Amino acid sequence: MAVIQTSPALAELAGGDFLSSADLSGDQTLALLELAADLKVGRRQIDLSGRSLGLIFRKASTRTRVSFTVAMARLGGQTIDLNPTVTQVGRGEPIADTARVLSRYCDALAIRTFAQEELSDYAHWASIPVVNALTDLEHPCQALADYLTLQEAFGGLEGLTLAYVGDGNNVAHSLMLSGALLGVSVRIGCPAGFAPSEAVLQQARQLTRGGATVEVLHDPVAAVRGAQALYTDVWASMGQEQEQAERERAFAGWCLDEALLAEADARAIVLHCLPAHRGEEISAGVIEGSASRVFDQAENRLHAQQALLAVLLGG
Ligand code: CP
Ligand code: NVA
Repeated sequence: MAVIQTSPALAELAGGDFLSSADLSGDQTLALLELAADLKVGRRQIDLSGRSLGLIFRKASTRTRVSFTVAMARLGGQTIDLNPTVTQVGRGEPIADTARVLSRYCDALAIRTFAQEELSDYAHWASIPVVNALTDLEHPCQALADYLTLQEAFGGLEGLTLAYVGDGNNVAHSLMLSGALLGVSVRIGCPAGFAPSEAVLQQARQLTRGGATVEVLHDPVAAVRGAQALYTDVWASMGQEQEQAERERAFAGWCLDEALLAEADARAIVLHCLPAHRGEEISAGVIEGSASRVFDQAENRLHAQQALLAVLLGG
């Protein structure tokens, strides 16, 4: 059961929730990435035997579901699939009851849902750590894996610029917050009407360190110019499927293609949280090209989440 923790910054997180990228300080985010990198190469071993993670997913998932399941297995613990369609959650049992009951069985919950408020409700009623496995507002576990991938590519993070082109969505929000905390400048390039939340933008700007900036631009070339990482995500997120056609029109000219990549730093890497729509937000050539790190990035979900679980369940 012993969990090896040497970082005091991380020890403070034991028993807490991870609902937003901003729930961590910059030092904690950095220490978590360091732990993830150590776990990835086997420099650290963590034992969570006997611990159980409940997964409550109200939206589809491949990477998050599987990486959490494998992460727990590698740490010696187990995962329980609490899919709302097979539990009383789907029949309307109140969150207040569900969260208190599950706290008697499980050691942590990873929740994927629509409203951030629903996640906060679980966290309020649960006496165990609650992790945001994606909401409409944020995708903080994704951002940890993304910055781990950027760190691997450049050997460090401070002073780098990540340019996200596309919808100012959950993924963009967590990239802005974690980037600010890590000293990475983040540029969001998006058509007018698809900007990130103003509240998250202001929050990210308040968190910046090391001279990093957070900007929103409405010109794709200006957004990516000289950046070390180019990132994109789908134009219509889960829950917005009925807006697909309208969004395809609004995002015309915003594809992360070879011409846009040519405007970035010559060493730039390409990231995408996946699933991707080739020929829409990213060209097939770019996602399959030499700059693409999307499969390393997907793998890093596993390592980043192992680090997160180890820390939250560390006790
Ligand atoms: N990137 C990501 O969260 O993928 P899934 O929706 O497959 O979990
Ligand atoms: N923005 C996307 C991310 C999927 C991992 C969505 O919310 O559907």
